[in-house]
Amino acid sequence: MTQSLKYRLKFYFNFVQIFCELFRQVLYDWGRFRKFSSYAISIFYLQSNGRVQTSYQLLALIQADAHKIEKALAITNPRPGFGVAVVKRLIANVLEYYQRFAFNSRLEIAYAVLQKYEEFNSLHNSLDQELEDSINNLEKEIIELKNLKTQAAGIIEFTKQEYLDKTKIDLEEFFMNRYSMRQFSDQKVDLKDLQKAIYLASKTPSVCNRQCYHAFVANGKEKASSVLTYQLGNRGFGDQVDSVITVTADLSCFFSSSERNQAWIDGGLYAMSLIYALHSLGIASCPLNWSVNPKRDLALKDASGIPHSHSIIMMIACGHIKDEFTVAKSKRKPMEELCTIMDKPLPKCSL
Ligand SMILES: Cc1cc2nc3c(=O)[nH]c(=O)nc-3n(C[C@H](O)[C@H](O)[C@H](O)COP(=O)(O)O)c2cc1C
Repeated sequence: MTQSLKYRLKFYFNFVQIFCELFRQVLYDWGRFRKFSSYAISIFYLQSNGRVQTSYQLLALIQADAHKIEKALAITNPRPGFGVAVVKRLIANVLEYYQRFAFNSRLEIAYAVLQKYEEFNSLHNSLDQELEDSINNLEKEIIELKNLKTQAAGIIEFTKQEYLDKTKIDLEEFFMNRYSMRQFSDQKVDLKDLQKAIYLASKTPSVCNRQCYHAFVANGKEKASSVLTYQLGNRGFGDQVDSVITVTADLSCFFSSSERNQAWIDGGLYAMSLIYALHSLGIASCPLNWSVNPKRDLALKDASGIPHSHSIIMMIACGHIKDEFTVAKSKRKPMEELCTIMDKPLPKCSL
């Protein structure tokens, strides 16, 4: 066999191997979304009626509907009597949740939203009697809601000045001086600081406020380095890392096939907030990729107890800053490569 034929055969063999690997990984993603999301519930108009399998899936339906009503109340002129079907479905899903899985704080949010809905429609004489009875009945069915004067939902009134007053901080200095850190001091990171960062990052927007994200914290060098043995991009600095936060997003939060990529978006946004929150607390960090094959993904989940319904978004290596250190410059693209300005309006969407 000639050298060039050998080379060509090797090339095609590698190509087929890479193609099959891609296919296998796409199947892995597809299978996970199919198994852990409740995508089929859309056939039943998002009403569970005992169909969804896990408490997380049902909570996602409840959160999404509560949010639909809450945001409709926050527009300039809400339409009196809006959303009857959504309200009915929300009540049914809330009752089902309580009967199947007991109380959860998200039920309080849903109930608070329903109370605001009731208030708004009573004011406009647009409250359906049957609906009013069903909302009031929730207090009888769910004892934890009894006499609860909840402030867990609704709208917040602002003046422009009040809103703007809270934005007067110099973010340019803050943003432009964050670097991915690959050198850390020996000082231990306090778990309380990590929790503070997690709390701050929880203000990250997420689809329907479903908050699919979660942080798995390995605080302290011993635990951190054990987690890092699963990650492939920390060579040369992993031993200096004090803590590792593994950011995940739970696929149980999603109930439509068009949301198949939403976990990556919500989880990615959350991870960025977390990095900035850590930066604001003086904790240096380095995002670490989780671009791995299914075998490695499963290995980490099995070893760490991260539920299989969670997609791992990335890890964040954390540590304190050394007195003197270096970082990679990682220069950004110029403005003309960063954005494209639309020069005319689009034709109206006809889909
Ligand atoms: C999702 C993600 C994964 C990353 N993975 C790694 C990694 O495995 N190892 C590493 O050293 N840096 C990693 N980085 C850091 C990037 O190299 C770094 O963010 C980029 O070069 C920009 O530099 P800066 O963060 O200092 O501004 C990752 C960043 C992101 C956003």
